[in-house]
Order: sequence, then structure tokens, then C-alpha cells
Amino acid sequence: MVRFFFIFLLVVDAAIGMTQSSQRKRVNFDEDWRFHFGNAADPTKDFNYRIAPIFAKSGATTNTALGVGFKDSSWRQLDLPHDWAVELPFVNSPNFDVMAHGYKPVGGLFPETSVGWYRKHFTIARKDSGQRFSVTFDGIFRDANIWVNGFYLGNNQSGYIGVTYDITDYINYGRDNVIAVRADASQYEGWFYEGAGIYRHVWLNSYNNTHVANDGIFASAEVKGNAATVSIETTIENQGQGTSACTVQTYVTERNGKVVAQSNEQPLTLLTIESKAVTQQVAVSQPHLWSLEDPYLYRVVTIIKQNGKVIDRVQHRFGIRTIDIKWNGVFLNGKHVKIKGTNNHQDHAGIGSALPDAMQYYRVRLLKELGSNSYRVSHNAPTPELLDACDSLGMLVIDEQRLLNSSPEYVYQLERIIKRDRNHPSVFLWSIGNEEGWIQTTTIGKRIAQSLLLKQKEWDPTRTSTYAADLPNVFNGVNEVIPVRGFNYRDSFVAAYHKDHPMQPIIGTEMGSTVTTRGIYEVDTARAYVPDQDITSPWWASTAEEWWTEAAVNDYWLGGYVWTGFDYRGEPTPYQWPNVNSHFGVMDVCGFPKNIYYYYQSWWTDKDVLHLSPHWNWKGKEGQLIDVWVNSNADNVELFLNGKSLGKKDMPRNKHLQWSVRYKPGVLEAVAYKKGKKLTSKVETTGAPVAIILKADRNSLLADNQDATVVNVSVVDQQGREVPDAGNQIQFSLAGSGKIIGVGNGDPSSHEPDKYFNGAWKRQLFNGKCQVIIQAGKEKSPIQLEAKSEGLKPAVVYFQQEIL
Ligand code: GAL
Repeated sequence: MVRFFFIFLLVVDAAIGMTQSSQRKRVNFDEDWRFHFGNAADPTKDFNYRIAPIFAKSGATTNTALGVGFKDSSWRQLDLPHDWAVELPFVNSPNFDVMAHGYKPVGGLFPETSVGWYRKHFTIARKDSGQRFSVTFDGIFRDANIWVNGFYLGNNQSGYIGVTYDITDYINYGRDNVIAVRADASQYEGWFYEGAGIYRHVWLNSYNNTHVANDGIFASAEVKGNAATVSIETTIENQGQGTSACTVQTYVTERNGKVVAQSNEQPLTLLTIESKAVTQQVAVSQPHLWSLEDPYLYRVVTIIKQNGKVIDRVQHRFGIRTIDIKWNGVFLNGKHVKIKGTNNHQDHAGIGSALPDAMQYYRVRLLKELGSNSYRVSHNAPTPELLDACDSLGMLVIDEQRLLNSSPEYVYQLERIIKRDRNHPSVFLWSIGNEEGWIQTTTIGKRIAQSLLLKQKEWDPTRTSTYAADLPNVFNGVNEVIPVRGFNYRDSFVAAYHKDHPMQPIIGTEMGSTVTTRGIYEVDTARAYVPDQDITSPWWASTAEEWWTEAAVNDYWLGGYVWTGFDYRGEPTPYQWPNVNSHFGVMDVCGFPKNIYYYYQSWWTDKDVLHLSPHWNWKGKEGQLIDVWVNSNADNVELFLNGKSLGKKDMPRNKHLQWSVRYKPGVLEAVAYKKGKKLTSKVETTGAPVAIILKADRNSLLADNQDATVVNVSVVDQQGREVPDAGNQIQFSLAGSGKIIGVGNGDPSSHEPDKYFNGAWKRQLFNGKCQVIIQAGKEKSPIQLEAKSEGLKPAVVYFQQEIL
């Protein structure tokens, strides 16, 4: 990616005759922060916050952790992204919200571990003092107060949407500067694990006094026949001390940098502290459309010149595509797309909510392999890299606002989401809220929705909105005015609602919600596990088969989003402690498929799917009946135990097959025919584990201190067969420049740490699997990960690191 970006710059700069590079810089500011817990109850343990007169005088730094002079050398040194919640032990609290947040000691009951202070020192050369500088935080959980050199910049209430502050006035050129952040996670926003701290990137931006405003470009395309008209609205600001005369010009380029369309240089005069929006239209003939199968991305490049010299240059990735949402379907580039979606929160095994960018790509890729074509970011603004991954890999997105409220605070949050995300082709629908039980059927709810919808249209007239309502056939309130009616569960009411409101498109914003524990085949109330088959769903929800059989065959269902694609921390259901994770996922918190994965994959893809469950290691159950499930999209399936046929059955569409089989160790095999093609699949009784197997997702990393990859761990028996019920503890060690940043195993009741600070990393296998996440270092030397376990043959995996 990075190599490509440089090549691209050269080509474009040559193409447009630039003699010098633009002055804009966007520097990643993730490295080398200092961190210390504050205290929400005791000001003396909170660096005197709330007792020092911080807000009495501008630039006040006395007696607090805000200013340059404060000694932070004893604070913990770390790189962002950082989620301190995932580092804390589990606590068995009877409090509902602690349970809902995954039993981590964060929130109002835990003042010692709910406030985090961060500091970062930086210098800016005196020669750059003519520039403007701003700092962007992509996301902090939450209620973040932010200072530079003791000067208060502002407060970001939201734990999700980011914020940008101009810091030019406060900089000490050529000397030490410090950013200080006090994040206060005492107050929750959601009812699921939310993490804590600066868990997304931070950027230092610098640009000319006359520049493209933050999130100041909005590109959209209209496609007619074989041509597209791309409209680019650019907001330019002059923050200098005098009038600024400049020109604005926009290019659309192909991925390789070739210019395919360009506007004129439009002259513009900006008085001091003035901003103006300029709309330019360019024609792209025979556009390469962005689609789910071929997510082609153009670049939109905006150039500001003064006296013929380039003074600002901003580049965006951009897709040309059309979206039409009608009562009978979503049409992408005129083609009907049934929405096969998943809802997801943002945490992953081992790392909580602090995901390296590569993990976003990893997760979206797993969802694509499942057959999913859409992602609802429930219930908050995502990190920008999640949308980058969806743009790059071809995944439609519902981008969601945290809460239904039209107060200035929440309107500003919505504005930041829309202006930040509206250039992403993957985003096809906004969501203005989720399950607002107090107001969704009231006039107040309707008024708030109307206000937000007007704002949405103002900032993005090219898209429309939904709202996720947990209501049956009810129209009052938000549903009266919402353009796309969202159904959270209550799928049995969709037909009646459609009959009553035939022209209002309907989308299943939350569907299914079978709870399953990977590799478990019985109800286990002590360990809080549920069987790994499509049978257990909460009272408000349904099984996969219940909702998809309806949604698949009726066009008035635009489709739906399974609750959820991945398990997530918190919201344990139906049990509580020792259960600390949800079980809703089609995959577990590591991304390991559960059996229900193969149900969706059967009916969401054209792949040849033939999957048998459970495994066939049932020592002690000889002679007992075992329920065997077959998930497949073949026409028929015949099951054999140790070579003997147990019968052949036709595969009903959008369903599964089941056999009751008396257990005998050996080989259980399925033979299926799909349009005449033979498919086979088997599960075998294995021996005890003898060796560890490591499977890296990628063996080559960028040595940029950021790139990351997943290593999946399993064990095999003497004959090389994976042992599906193994529970060995595996120890990990890493040699070379790089680090392990987390371990997990998908066990929703595991209380093992996800992080180790003494280097002695370990994790137990849960039903045969666990996972290690590795992050690259900065050196071009290889990394080596070794896995050991008593009595097992160890395994080693190597990673190359490249510097670009
Ligand atoms: C919904 C809610 C989700 C999650 C889910 C669990 O009501 O929108 O956030 O709580 O239920 O089934």
C-alpha cells in the first residue's frame, strides 16, 4: 500500500506539472506516549484535576499533568492504539453494566481504573513556523479533555467519533511541546464492551494558512449510461492574517495515477478567516464502477495554488457507483443486491478495541469469505480504517450514529461522522440510532428523527437513513418518518408491516441471534456454554433458519444483518459470570467459525459447502445417540459411519439436514451431489495431540511498527489430524524486532489474561484452537514465533519484515 502511494504521488505530480511537492503533511502520532491512571474519586491521585485551577488562567500548568514542565518520565511508555480496559483483570461484580461491559473494572464503580492520562512530547522546527498545525484524534473512549502546552483545546464527549483541533497558536517552535489527554471512561455509552483510552490513531497535520478544510471534500458521482459526472465540493479556508487569492483544481485519477478527468483552475479570493465552498464537476467516461466483486477505487486529488505555486494538495480514494434503495431491493449499479449482513462491535481477541489497521482487513476478509456483503457498525462511528477495508475489499456499510438526539452535542457528532465518512463508496446508508426504547414510538422521537434526517440530507444528499427499531408492526414515532424501516428481530411481523406500508423499504437491522459456543455440544450452565448449533436464541430473537428462510425469498426484505458476525466482549447471554463474552457471533472473538458459519456460507455463497458437526471424539459415549448436523448447499447428502450408509436426504433450500447417529469411534462421512458434482466431507475420531501447528495469516510484514498479523494455533495427533477438543496450554515466545500484542481462544468464559507484560505469553486451547496476534517492529530483520507445550512437539513460524 505504502509503496504504491509513493509511486502514485510521483506519477500524478508529473502529470500535473508540479515543480515542488505540496506542503501538507499528515504525520502519524501513535508512537511514544506516556500513560498513567488518574482517579475519578480522589483529585490528589488525579494530578490535582478538579482541585488545581486549570480553567482559571489560559495556559495554566501549575501543579497538574497538563504542561511541558511536568515530569512524566516515570509514566508507562506505550504506542497507540491503546485500550487499558483489556489489560485489566476480570471482576465478578453483580452490577448489570459491569456485566454488560465484560466484567472489566471500568466505569463509575471503579474510580482507580476509569481515568487515564496520556502525554506525548514533540518538537516542531522553527523553519515550519509559517504553517498551520492541527491534531486529529480518531477516537478516544471517552469524555476526553485535551490540552497542548497547558492550553485547553476542548472536550470530546464521544467515545467513538474523532475530533480535530488547530494547535498553531500554542506551539513552542524548536522546543519541547506536549499534548495531554485526560480520558474519563467512568460513564458508559453502550451496553457492551467499549474499551478505554486512546484506542485509535492520532495524527499531526500541517498545512498552509490557505488550505482545504478538515473533511472539506465531498465527492459524489452520477452515472448515466457509459459516463459518470463526478461532483467535488471543496471547502477552502484562509486562516492567515490577510486576504488570500488562490485557485482550486480537482483531478480524478486511476489507481495507477493516470489522470482521467480534471477541472479548470477556479480562482477564489478569501478574506482573512473566511471559508468558501467550490463545486467542480468533471466527466469520467466509461467509469470503472465500484462493486462488491470488483471494488475499484479512483483517487480524487484537490490542488490549491497561489501565484502558480501548489500550496495544498489533498487526495481521497473514491468509488464511482450508484445506489438505489426501493421497497423491493437495494440496487448497486442497477443490480439487485440482497443484503447478507452482519452487525459487529469493534473488539477482537487479545487486543480489545485497540486494533492495528491490518486487523480491520483481516476481519472484513473473514466476513467476505463467509459470504457477507454488508456490515452494520453497531452502534457507533467506526474507525476510519474499517471503512477503508470495506472500500478496498467490497463490503457495503451502514454507518451509525451513537444515539437518537438532536441536541447540539449529538448533531455535531452526526456532522463529524457524515463529513468524515461520506467519501467512502462502501457506506450506502446512514443509521440515526438504535432501539431508543424511551422515545421511538413518540412524537418526540419523531421530531428528533426529522431534525436529524434534515441534517443528514444537508451534509449528504446522495444517501438516505435507517433507524434500528425493536418494534413489531408499529408505525408511530420514528418509523413514520424514517426512509428505510429497520427491524431489530420481530421478523415474524415484517410481512404484515410491508402489507401496511408497501412502499417503505424494510431492512433487518438486527436478525437471527442464535447463541452458540464454538465446539460445545451441550448446555453447560456451570461454565455458561450453549450448544454450537442453530437452536438457542433469546426470546426477542430467532434462529438463523427462522429469519433467513423468510428474508431469502421475499423481495420486500432488502436483506438483514445477523446479530453478530463476531462474538464480542460483554453482553454475556443467556448466562452471566463466569461468561464474560457474548455468544452471538457466527465466528468467535478470534474469528474462528462456529457451525452456524456454514449455514450462512451455504446460502450466502456459490461455494461448494459441505460441513459436518459435531466432531467425532466422544469417548465414553459409545452406543449413545448423537445429533449430527449437515450444513450444505448441495442437492442431496448421504451420511456414512465407518463406510455404512445412514441414509440419503434431499437438502431443503435455506435449511440444514440432521441425523441421529449411535456413536461408534471411526469416520463419519458425508457424500453430497451438487448439480451432479460430488462433494465429500468427514469428521474422524482422533488420537491424543502430539504436535503444535502454527498457521500465520501472513508471513511478510511491513517493518513500520504498526503492521500486524494473526497466527492461529491448533494441535494434531500422530496422523496429523487436528484434535478438536484439545485444551493444552501453549506458551509463546517471540524473537526479533516485533512483539506479541495479544492472545485469545474464543472461550467466552475464559478469565485468562489477553495481555502479558512479563514476556511469558501463554494461552490454553479452547476446543482445539487459540490465537496469537503479532505486531511488526521497525527493523528489516525476520521475526520468529515459537510455540511450546509440555509433551507436544513445538512449532516455529517465521516472518519477513520489509521496509518500504
Ligand atoms: C439488541 C441491541 C444490541 C444487542 C442485542 C442482543 O436489542 O440492539 O445491541 O444488545 O439486542 O441481542
